[in-house]
Amino acid sequence: MQTQFFTAHEIDKAAAILQAGETLAFPTETVYGLGADALNSEAVLKIYAAKSRPRFNPLIVHCASLEQALEQGHFNEMALKLAKRFWPGPLTLVVPLKNKNLSDIALAGLQSVALRVPNHPLALELLRKVNRPIVAPSANPSGFISPTKAFHVHDLNGRIGGILDGGACQVGVESTIVACLDKPVLLRAGGLAREVIEAITGKLEISDELIAPGQLKSHYAPRNPIRLNATSFAKNELVLGFGECEGMSLSRDGNLQEAALNLFAYLRELDSLGQPIAVMPIPSHGLGEAINDRLKRAAT
Ligand code: TXA
Ligand code: MG
Repeated sequence: MQTQFFTAHEIDKAAAILQAGETLAFPTETVYGLGADALNSEAVLKIYAAKSRPRFNPLIVHCASLEQALEQGHFNEMALKLAKRFWPGPLTLVVPLKNKNLSDIALAGLQSVALRVPNHPLALELLRKVNRPIVAPSANPSGFISPTKAFHVHDLNGRIGGILDGGACQVGVESTIVACLDKPVLLRAGGLAREVIEAITGKLEISDELIAPGQLKSHYAPRNPIRLNATSFAKNELVLGFGECEGMSLSRDGNLQEAALNLFAYLRELDSLGQPIAVMPIPSHGLGEAINDRLKRAAT
């Protein structure tokens, strides 16, 4: 398959790719997603094929607005409160399924659906133009590092319909996932800090791995060995630091938001040099929870 490349000015052509039942990589504020029409199982299957993604791992349905999201799932009071407060934004809500026309394959047969309204002008414009819910996992081969720049998606060249280039993402790690089936439960740490959500929900329950079927222990894996919480370094090791340090620093002023933004791009850059990577300790509050989660999976 010939992958087509689009700039922001060519958004109409990019939208047409999705409408034709093909896959399109597009920017969101968190990471680049690989989109397909959520109502078209044939299109959705192309996502699983392009990523070599296990079929039991359901996809997030992206909506242009809260109104569109309300047509897809049943929102309890807490879900509605969270959606109104944080959408558009890096928060995914898992709620009971309402729209039975959503592709069964996208939902991996579940009776719940993961929904999100992304906070990215180009993503929102695309979703409005296509005028359909769009499923989108991160646009990387399954198990590899998520893309935060358009050129990172080139790992999928020849396997997807197109790439819409919207520059670098602004958050850098995937959305936080909260299930609102009964009491709210944290399924995945992500781009919206848990503390910010808990200011509304109170202390969140944290799921065991079984509830978020795609939360594989090993994920985001670089090709070279990676060691965490390193405080001393071997000669051949490339340092990924935090704060002032000798090697590459995720944030010289110790800013966790900046560190999240740089995490995947820096991991890719270091990995391309073909030597083991040693990562310095990173605080675990705020976006540090998502950063440490991704690093732990990368090291497994
Ligand atoms: O920031 C993001 O969320 C990005 C951008 C593209 O929006 N997307 C993303 O998708 O990270 P993905 O496929 O890499 O991760 C989706 C996660 C998986 O762990 C999947 O198991 C979980 O969401 N998920 C989807 N539907 C679910 C459901 N009904 N119940 C529980 N977990 C679900
Ligand atoms: Mg992913």
